[in-house]
Amino acid sequence: MKLNIAVLSGDGIGPEVTHQAIKVLKAIAQEFDHSFRFKEAPVGAIAIDQTGNPLPDDTLQLCEASDAILFGAIGDPKYDNNPSAKVRPEQGLLKLRKSLGLYANIRPVKAYETLLDKSPLKENVIKGTDISIYRELTGGIYFGEKQLSEDGQVASDLCEYSREEIERIAHLAFKAAQSRKKKVTLVDKANVLETSRLWRKVVTELAKDYPDVELDFLFVDNAAMQMILNPKQFDVILTENLFGDVISDEASVIGGSIGLLASASVGNKHAMFEPIHGSYPEATGKGIANPIASILSAAMLLEHFGLYKEANVIKAGVEKSLQLHVTTPDLNDNFDHITTSKVGDFIEDFIHNPKDSNLNFTNIHLGQSTII
Ligand code: IPM
Ligand code: MG
Repeated sequence: MKLNIAVLSGDGIGPEVTHQAIKVLKAIAQEFDHSFRFKEAPVGAIAIDQTGNPLPDDTLQLCEASDAILFGAIGDPKYDNNPSAKVRPEQGLLKLRKSLGLYANIRPVKAYETLLDKSPLKENVIKGTDISIYRELTGGIYFGEKQLSEDGQVASDLCEYSREEIERIAHLAFKAAQSRKKKVTLVDKANVLETSRLWRKVVTELAKDYPDVELDFLFVDNAAMQMILNPKQFDVILTENLFGDVISDEASVIGGSIGLLASASVGNKHAMFEPIHGSYPEATGKGIANPIASILSAAMLLEHFGLYKEANVIKAGVEKSLQLHVTTPDLNDNFDHITTSKVGDFIEDFIHNPKDSNLNFTNIHLGQSTII
């Protein structure tokens, strides 16, 4: 298969983790005889520095002309700490999502057997957790009209949803549930918000088309509690933009590190793949950023194009790296010198040689991704 992939690695640790994902995709292309072409373009704070615009026109055009987008991270403390900044890196990501119509953000959350002790939650609570979060991505309070009174004392953000916006992502969530444990939980705040009541109405109607799927409802405050009390109860979570943002960061605690969570943002024409973590400026350039979320996002990219065998090899490589503790310090108590690129090297090696990937652990600090 031939794929043109736009690479928007962005800010902070974005470039270093995205680099590992590209390495892994190149190894897949080699082993499975595909042709992946990568073209880079700036986005976020780095794009503001270069052009004044967090999403330059050339970057958007490249994305529109590509088959898929591999995204790194955006954000910079100099904007976070300045609430009056007119131009912000995040605007680049939001505009990209909206312009490309990426209305569904899919975030898988899984408790890896080998990492059960890494989560602050008890092993018996998280063991067996396997959730797929379907977060609406181009509507709601993120995109409603924003106002600040002239004297700067009153602000508002409008939360708006239409039936169509709810239906299109709900269909995807129900279809996903059909090939999983056949349960959809709609997370909302229907006891207070009109938009949430519309979500309940529309999703309840639509559920009739999927009689094999059980539909359940939870208020978001309760859902936040259930997520850490009993995460195994969830299969597919369907929710609006802001609730999905919050719930998915919370859910990342189950896996033991936010550095493991990948995501796909899909629309009718375009698709983008990105780790859910941010730009982690404190770690930039230190080689400590976990590249697995970015590498698993690359696997989601392959799945999007039906390349399941290829994606499974990447996932197996990730499992192997976790099993053998070839991981960055966020997951590694014993060794703090396994760098971002060593993890990438290991998974790359695994793709070339999946059967013989027993790492000679004593040698990894020598910079040899040694296979014995
Ligand atoms: C995410 C991020 C973004 C969001 C930010 C960077 C705008 O937190 O993808 O979850 O809020 O959607
Ligand atoms: Mg977020």
